[in-house]
Amino acid sequence: MASSKNSISAKSTLSKAPSAKPWGGRFTEPTNELVEAFTESISFDARLYKQDIQGSIAHSKMLAKIGVISDQEANSIETGLLDIRAQIDAGEFEWSTQLEDVHMNIEARLTDAIGEAGKKLHTGRSRNDQVATDIRLYMRQASDDVIALIKALQENLLASASNEVKTILAGFTHLQVAQPISLAHHLLAWNEMLERDVERLEDCRKRINVMPLGSAALAGTSFPLDRDMTCELLEFDRPSRNSLDSVSDRDFLIEFAAASSVIMMHLSRMCEEIILWASESYKFIDIGDAFCAGSSIMPQKKNPDIAEIVRGKSGRVIGNLQALLVIMKGQPLAYNRDNQEDKEPIFDTVDTVARSLQVFAAMIPSITFNRDIMYQSALKGYATATDLAEYLVRLDVPFRDAHEIVGGTVRYAIEQGKSLSDLSLTELQSFGTMIKQDVYDVLTLEGSVNSRSHFGGTAPARVSEALDAAKQRLSW
Ligand code: ARG
Repeated sequence: MASSKNSISAKSTLSKAPSAKPWGGRFTEPTNELVEAFTESISFDARLYKQDIQGSIAHSKMLAKIGVISDQEANSIETGLLDIRAQIDAGEFEWSTQLEDVHMNIEARLTDAIGEAGKKLHTGRSRNDQVATDIRLYMRQASDDVIALIKALQENLLASASNEVKTILAGFTHLQVAQPISLAHHLLAWNEMLERDVERLEDCRKRINVMPLGSAALAGTSFPLDRDMTCELLEFDRPSRNSLDSVSDRDFLIEFAAASSVIMMHLSRMCEEIILWASESYKFIDIGDAFCAGSSIMPQKKNPDIAEIVRGKSGRVIGNLQALLVIMKGQPLAYNRDNQEDKEPIFDTVDTVARSLQVFAAMIPSITFNRDIMYQSALKGYATATDLAEYLVRLDVPFRDAHEIVGGTVRYAIEQGKSLSDLSLTELQSFGTMIKQDVYDVLTLEGSVNSRSHFGGTAPARVSEALDAAKQRLSW
């Protein structure tokens, strides 16, 4: 099989099609201009060139091994493709919309450069398994990159948290002061979200890293391809099991877009808190000037634009997930051109998530925490009312009765314009005779926080352990 000499030269034996297209043979008319502009994908899939070349080199090496092309032809294909890659890297490659997509642009240039051998590269392959392979290679790298960016953010968060184990602020429910907490505990809650985001991407990566190459157009090929060999060369976990499924489904992109949507949803929640905390009403934090923007009319303004834009960008990533689901849902087996529409939303998803993570991570160390203001705010909202109820329970008052007693105490304190710890022992005892002097130990913010000392609680001693454990898990 491996011979370049007896191959039929299309130039000499076939009449020339009226189109430069590699698929032009059965066509009698050139493609309409509007159609060409509408169907091209080179304007966005050129970014797959490295993966396309990597896949083609592996395919040609395998074709040589099974004797479909000669070693010499495989070598010349490899040299030609590496040369094309260098040209593209250097910005010297001219892409043509006439050649539709990244696959045909590269293949056509290869044949121009090395002649007959270039025409053999597409043996036992279709653009359908080719593009599926390219996008999987691309997304494998993208997953690793996004995972690394999340971990870099975690590193910054944990570094900030290390200085704030004993910093007390009000924890909120319903955005109302609830109970005092350690600021590091709050930042560690963000870290938990990010840790699950990494797990989701790692899990999604397993299903990305399966090799469709060898599925050809949809039904496989009559050539005895060694798919294990290409699988190994391209470092996939395994060859795909079904040729129809391999060329058609894009569920792995949908999963990536879903995992990315969750990442953006998490970032957006963190941004929301940063925006609130930086506001005049809270003043819990100051964001570094380098990470803020001003107003063109109000000279005093310093706005948390990074956090707002990241929050806003969650919209497009979640929208991309929707787009991918809808693109896929109506497609019968096997490949349909609809799938070309997967590129822009998934590339935009990768770019948006990566850039958001990067800038958000860079902003974290620029944030200074106004510990005193946080502390004062926690003093205000009767944050230790639950502690008083739990104190009563320890004196054998049933919890529901304790809740009622403390409710009355808080109402009285509000009327008097006092905090709970401002009330005298006599005042407190008018609500419960069993109350003693030691009640003041639980009415302070420190007493409250220290008492929540079970695993997962906010006591500084536990938070310190949680922080160490989080750093351990992060080691990468
Ligand atoms: N540009 C196409 C895509 O992104 C490549 C595959 C085209 N295959 C075909 N038979 N027209 O899906």
